[in-house]
Amino acid sequence: MSKKQSSGNSENELQIKKEKFIEKLKTIYKEEVDEVIKSIEVEKPTVFRVNTLKAEPEKVLNKLNEAGFEILPALLNNSYYIKNSEKRLSDTPEFKNGEIYIQRLSSMLPVFELDPKPGEKILDLCAAPGSKTSQIAEISNNQSKITAVENNRSRFFALQKNLENLGVKNVQLLMEDGSFIDRNHPQLLEYFDKVLIDAPCTNEGLICFCNPNSLKMWNKKNAIRLAKLQKRLLSAGLKMLRPGGSAVYSTCTFSVEENEEVVGWVLKNFPYISLIEQKRVIPDHLYSGFYFAKLLKQS
Ligand SMILES: C[S@@+](CC[C@H](N)C(=O)[O-])C[C@H]1O[C@@H](n2cnc3c(N)ncnc32)[C@H](O)[C@@H]1O
Repeated sequence: MSKKQSSGNSENELQIKKEKFIEKLKTIYKEEVDEVIKSIEVEKPTVFRVNTLKAEPEKVLNKLNEAGFEILPALLNNSYYIKNSEKRLSDTPEFKNGEIYIQRLSSMLPVFELDPKPGEKILDLCAAPGSKTSQIAEISNNQSKITAVENNRSRFFALQKNLENLGVKNVQLLMEDGSFIDRNHPQLLEYFDKVLIDAPCTNEGLICFCNPNSLKMWNKKNAIRLAKLQKRLLSAGLKMLRPGGSAVYSTCTFSVEENEEVVGWVLKNFPYISLIEQKRVIPDHLYSGFYFAKLLKQS
């Protein structure tokens, strides 16, 4: 490995970051910390779901088996992982034509928590590249009415392309800042049955010590900066929710500032919002670090 990594972080700097990161994990996890560190030493297997908008699970799994993939069920409905394959799932025709979708297992949880139903109006406030938008469409069999917002131009077009490839219908796409959706679309205030805020975050749950470069963007201070944006997005999203509707806030990070503290701030400042459930996913051989909270707007 070169002394200077592509990011400009030297091996020494990455080692220091790793030590600081472990220190941070110790303050968050205490007795579970060894389990957490052990799980982020090794790469996770590839997890995917069958896109039932385009394929029947049995048929597509058979095709993948025939192509030499050993497939095991993962822990959630319609989720699978690849065991010991030399080949890449992303090279298969089934992936390329949208019959399957590669998605981390933890990343599937918020949509199960959201529990989308046919006929519901659903706002996905931070949508690209569309893993959860397409999962919502799939679970509701293209029968929910989704509004998907993404402010980053290139990610917006990736979202659009992914949804097309996956056969997703009934989605209105908005390229704009989700934290201003209440001001930009007053006609949609209290319109949605469900809102998903899968917020931009420090992505600590994606760090793997098997790939030291995954630490290169990590900086302890980023959590505080992002928490401000997360609060703005969550505040705007909650204003779009109808009374009696529910919202899911999620991140793929460990930081308390971006998780429990953001939700705690909302509960303090929005008296009509209550917490139904919050969960910190402890990473293991399949799950990566993740957090979600389900919120209810009183009727
Ligand atoms: C964690 S990712 C979302 C992943 C997506 N939900 C999925 O499952 O594929 C967060 C996304 O929010 C977008 N984002 C960041 N700030 C935003 C804002 N102010 N308004 C809308 N989207 C924003 C980022 O560009 C990024 O695509």
